[in-house]
Amino acid sequence: MDTYILGIESSCDETAASVVKNGREILSNVINTQIDFHKKYGGVVPEIASRKHIENIDSVIDEALLEANMTFDDIDAIAVTYGPGLVGALLIGVSSAKALSFALNKPLVPVNHIRGHISANFAAHTDLEPPFVCLVASGGHSHIVYVKDYTEFEVLGRTRDDAAGEAFDKIARVLGLGYPGGPLVDKLAKDGDPKAISFPRVRMDKNSLDFSFSGVKTAVINYIHKAEQKGEEINKADVAASFQDAVTDVLCEHTIEAAIKKKVKTIAIAGGVAANSNLREKMTDLCKKRGISVIYPPPVLCTDNAAMIACAGYYAYKNGDVAELDLNAVPNLPL
Ligand code: KG4
Ligand code: ZN
Repeated sequence: MDTYILGIESSCDETAASVVKNGREILSNVINTQIDFHKKYGGVVPEIASRKHIENIDSVIDEALLEANMTFDDIDAIAVTYGPGLVGALLIGVSSAKALSFALNKPLVPVNHIRGHISANFAAHTDLEPPFVCLVASGGHSHIVYVKDYTEFEVLGRTRDDAAGEAFDKIARVLGLGYPGGPLVDKLAKDGDPKAISFPRVRMDKNSLDFSFSGVKTAVINYIHKAEQKGEEINKADVAASFQDAVTDVLCEHTIEAAIKKKVKTIAIAGGVAANSNLREKMTDLCKKRGISVIYPPPVLCTDNAAMIACAGYYAYKNGDVAELDLNAVPNLPL
């Protein structure tokens, strides 16, 4: 029998709902992004995010059902992101999901947002099966995860300071490119020379797969400030390309080491930064010679969406991971 999951996502600045069949087939994927409201502040303003989620969540859910040509009766369970994320933002999704679960008398499935990002690959690659290694790099997280099974995850490495996407956003801001910065740096870097400036590639210690991006971020900011002080014009495209090259070098190196350590032949990438063209190309090139295949979702499933939450929710539901109505948002939920 087929299982239909309604997924709800509101952890940051996207209000999203989706219906997914059997954890793999996306029937609808509605994303209401708040980027335009946060843009002028150069980042997400939590209070605005919460208000916008409240305004939009009901219509986003209605639209997701409509697009899937379904009613609430057809849904087997409601999956919702309960962490990590902004507490006020998470609470809107969690409260809506609890209200639906209570009113419809349907199971409530709590989903970890990072597991959601990983699970976007199940929808994008319907033959993908664990085990594999996944690099999750987004605005809030940078993790290397061993996906042992659909609901079993082991963190092999994580950032000790900034997330990769956070570094992209910061560098875009100092280059005056706008928000969110990742796609803008990606685009500008295409016109630059990645070897023009040597920015640091940080390794915490040789046995650790952890990341640190604060050093490269500071090095780029210092480079720009020094040039400003000397009244020198910088080549923004070269800065963008050289910064991006430094970040993607480290992301690839550590992830490939993790895959070799775990003896897996598939690397998945996920999260907003997985949309980065240089990361996709580099990882694919480096893995080719090692006989490792690299997969990633289309850009719309890399950044925040609810289809990934419904995919993760399907496997959690099949595993019996259901919550009671006392479910709360957990802003710093570990993976
Ligand atoms: O997954 P996501 O939508 O939100 C979080 O869970 O954080 O990721 C958003 C992040 C932002 O930092 C954005 O700049 C980055 O992903 N991003 C990119 C690209 N597209 C989005 N970073 C680098 N290159 C891209 N093409
Ligand atoms: Zn995310």
